[in-house]
Amino acid sequence: MREERTHTCGELRLQDVGKRVILMGWAASVRDHGGCVFINLRDRYGITQVKVDSSERESLYKMAKGVKLESVLKVKGVVVDRGANRNPKMATGDIEVNAEEIEVMNTCKPLPFPIHDEINALEVTRLTYRYLDLRRPVMQKNLLLRAKVNQVTRKYLESQNFVEIETPILMKSTPEGARDFLVPSRIHPGCFYALPQSPQTFKQILMVAGFDRYYQIARCFRDEDLRADRQPEFTQIDLEISFATKDLVMQITEGLLASIWKEVLDIEVKTPFVRMTFDEAMEKFGSDKPDLRFDMPLKDVTDVFEATQFMGFQEVLKGGGKVVALVVQGKYAFSRKDIDKASEVAKEFGTKGLIWVRVGDGGLEGPLAKFLSDDEKRRLIEKACAGKGDLILLVGGAKENALKAMGAVRLFVGERLGLRQSSDLAFVWVTDFPMFEWDEEEQRPVAMHHPFTSPRPEDLDKLETDPLSVKALSYDVVLNGIELGGGSIRNHKREVQDRIFRVLGIDEHEAKEKFGFLLEALELGAPPHGGIALGMDRIVMLLCGASSIRDVIAFPKTTSAQCLMTRSPSEVSERQLEELHISVQKRGGNGCH
Ligand code: AMO
Repeated sequence: MREERTHTCGELRLQDVGKRVILMGWAASVRDHGGCVFINLRDRYGITQVKVDSSERESLYKMAKGVKLESVLKVKGVVVDRGANRNPKMATGDIEVNAEEIEVMNTCKPLPFPIHDEINALEVTRLTYRYLDLRRPVMQKNLLLRAKVNQVTRKYLESQNFVEIETPILMKSTPEGARDFLVPSRIHPGCFYALPQSPQTFKQILMVAGFDRYYQIARCFRDEDLRADRQPEFTQIDLEISFATKDLVMQITEGLLASIWKEVLDIEVKTPFVRMTFDEAMEKFGSDKPDLRFDMPLKDVTDVFEATQFMGFQEVLKGGGKVVALVVQGKYAFSRKDIDKASEVAKEFGTKGLIWVRVGDGGLEGPLAKFLSDDEKRRLIEKACAGKGDLILLVGGAKENALKAMGAVRLFVGERLGLRQSSDLAFVWVTDFPMFEWDEEEQRPVAMHHPFTSPRPEDLDKLETDPLSVKALSYDVVLNGIELGGGSIRNHKREVQDRIFRVLGIDEHEAKEKFGFLLEALELGAPPHGGIALGMDRIVMLLCGASSIRDVIAFPKTTSAQCLMTRSPSEVSERQLEELHISVQKRGGNGCH
């Protein structure tokens, strides 16, 4: 008999009954039923039940009883029909393997947590013993699904004539809004490479080089504050297209996302996706990544309160702010307690919280009602499009705060009412973002996407005179309130790029120093071009129904940017530092373990 495994643990069926097989895997469970031991042998393909009967093999039975959980076993035996004991819940449940020999290839010490889908181990423990965590079927499913997304992405983009090209990991810094990770150069004392925040400049250069359709499944590195959907190193599906229009990039992206959902989950995604401008998204949903699984748009009711007696709103209007309403229809149960919680959400955005009225049988009821004239009541109901029994939530504040606060309240209400089901898919394009936003700290405009984004041609005149009103040829694709990707049409003319750098306060010398290669390339036959990058980790997270991208990355970092398994970052030797011409001012402290 051959000594390699003959089958995986997910493979054997009734038609294999009678075969002599060799299985190898992990002992997922060991059950002694008095005279008979059952071992569930698991590998990434599934689980097969192995049976050792004391009446047939007394010494093997004794040994099998003592097998430690998660030991690695080699089992030789014969496939038998389980007859009346078939288990319909297991793919291999019709059969079992009657063991003739069991070899413990490696035994296992007591585990820090059980290898089950449902565990309550702390994430710190899971990440420290990531190999055990990854042995759990749910994690294996996530990583296999991720591999499939890679495959489908390549297949789709190749079918559209895209060429896969790798770009450097050691490079010059590209501004994507986050801090760079720096790598000291040994050969050039005092000089540093930056790890790419994205391959942005290289992919543009590839357009100048004539590779009209580029893609890369690219690792990106950003030293920023981490959240459930952010990691310091993450993966983008990055693409760039020459002679592109916004519509072409969007159409290709929709095709890619639709083929991923179709081939991975067999779900038909409706294309084209809904589109709305940034302004519309902010006004209607209080967010540049609106969750469109439910409607419930915000309403600007500021003018209802122009002459209001209600002090709270008087102040808001005096300061040039807004009053924004959200209607919760009467058919939904939304209690006082819920309103209080929603109010706390609104306060997180620098507002004073929510005030509410309900449309009762005899007119408006609730704490605000007594401050309103009949005319104001009528206009509020009309403007908010409220009906009998509906609840009107109101927030006042500076324009952006009020919209963002009510946007967050809208999400809270949607969640509370069960309107944000993960099985629903609401893709939307958000377009025409402002080119710049004001940076309070630096007291200057900064690029909202990145400085290589093209302004809308009709706004070019305002670039210097009113930069904050300039809109960009940019677009984000959003799914269920999560930004999946973003891109733009680029500046392919040097003159426009120079003007943008000037608005950003980057003078000619600095621009040349930082991006001279790109500026020069723009003058040496750069075609018009544009592209997009999609967050691979976020896509896989949504496909898996996971709540954090850490669950779809094999070896993620914690929220404090550490790898708990390998314990990185860590201190290095004095000799390494010397070679790199680096002296560390303060060793240890909070930095290392
Ligand atoms: P942007 O910065 O919008 O665009 O990034 C594109 C997408 O990458 C994902 N993403 C992240 N995922 C996990 N962890 C992070 N820290 C993280 N940061 C970003 C998001 C995001 O939508 N060069 C441009 C693209 C272009 O213009 O073509 C860029 O990188 O899903």
